[in-house]
Amino acid sequence: MAGFLYGASTASYQIEGAVHEDGRGPSIWDTFAHTPGRVRNGDTGDVACDHYHRWAEDVALLAGLGVGAYRFSVAWPRVVPAGSGAVNDKGLGFYDRLVDGLLERGIEPVPTLFHWDLPQALEDEGGWLDRETAYRFAEYAGHVAGRLGDRVHRFITLNEPVVHMAQGYAWGTHAPGRALGLGALPVAHHQLLGHGLAVQALKAAGAREVWLTNNCTPVWSADEDRAAAAVYDGFHNRLFNDPVLLGSYPEFLLPGLEPHLRDGDLDIIRTPIDALGVNYYNPTLVGTASDGGDLPFEIRPVEGYPTTAFGWPVVPDGLTELLTGLQETYGDALPPIYITENGCSAEEGVADTFRVDYLQAHLGAVRAAAEAGVDVRGYFVWSLLDNFEWAEGYAQRFGLVHVDFDTQERTPRDSYRWFRDQCAKTSSS
Ligand code: FCB
Repeated sequence: MAGFLYGASTASYQIEGAVHEDGRGPSIWDTFAHTPGRVRNGDTGDVACDHYHRWAEDVALLAGLGVGAYRFSVAWPRVVPAGSGAVNDKGLGFYDRLVDGLLERGIEPVPTLFHWDLPQALEDEGGWLDRETAYRFAEYAGHVAGRLGDRVHRFITLNEPVVHMAQGYAWGTHAPGRALGLGALPVAHHQLLGHGLAVQALKAAGAREVWLTNNCTPVWSADEDRAAAAVYDGFHNRLFNDPVLLGSYPEFLLPGLEPHLRDGDLDIIRTPIDALGVNYYNPTLVGTASDGGDLPFEIRPVEGYPTTAFGWPVVPDGLTELLTGLQETYGDALPPIYITENGCSAEEGVADTFRVDYLQAHLGAVRAAAEAGVDVRGYFVWSLLDNFEWAEGYAQRFGLVHVDFDTQERTPRDSYRWFRDQCAKTSSS
């Protein structure tokens, strides 16, 4: 696929460590990880991959891989330690050096501005339940663009707002650990409002492209469970795609959202984006809820497929189905797509045939979608390095590069070499 962009992805809290350095403020993930019982084995991101100190070595790994782009995230609490107010020059300085290091190696930096590490000070005011957080986000986005915008041309606003809403605020399995059930809905609206305001701030600062990264899943169901599946699709996919691409929320969610909606919000949210980032891991099988709970659906295990070390089913065709489905649903309103995350956790060793097969099959699925007419322009592997996998701590390894967390030694896996060959084929075609 000529002109296709290959990349690798990471996120700040998952790799940086150095949580007390150079004026970084606390984030909700520091608080959550240090709360006993929240993260497997009591792991925290205090050190993680120590990328804050080893970034040059990691840029060299990216260069060896031959990727055209690197998707990383900027830690809001490094840039605006208290969430609002004073900007921390040293925090911006770190990303400044990283961007220069990438550009020297011919790698395009693609920063995400929010990959879940909200400044704790903002959480103390209500976090994303509070509308004000959206405005603080846009201000912070403007500060980052002001410093990096002369060299960074593509920014991503949010990473997977659905996962942050669901796991962070509805179920409480991620930071900030609130279990509000349907009470988490305003978190969707405020993140989307923050996204729209940030698109405007970034464009005003000269950004050429702004993307939003959504986690999308094809929703499967038996015939008799279609209604439940439509509701799940509404919460997981349409709640985050419809307002951005069409300027409207799914009807059935309006009663929960309307109290938080103000005139003009949807116009801000639908400010045109230049691409949709899609993170794909697996399809979701939905059935009708049997217990008469809050929600009319339940999630059932997808059976009959191999599973990753995490237990996630491996369904490459689901990615083709997802992409062609987006094309069908949104038609001309769908911007170009980049797969901003896809990958798997696997055994610790460096002979990771499982991951090579996984990546090969999923890249094939992307190619099939492109052949079916979907404008998909790139693919970023999750992840460059083994890292802090949220509530799983260091127990799940997603890296093309193995990390020994005792010594911080990096060792490229077979999948690194395989992906390097894919990148090389494209740049020579
Ligand atoms: C995604 C997250 C990313 C990583 C992968 C495995 O939901 O965006 O940070 O944890 O899952």
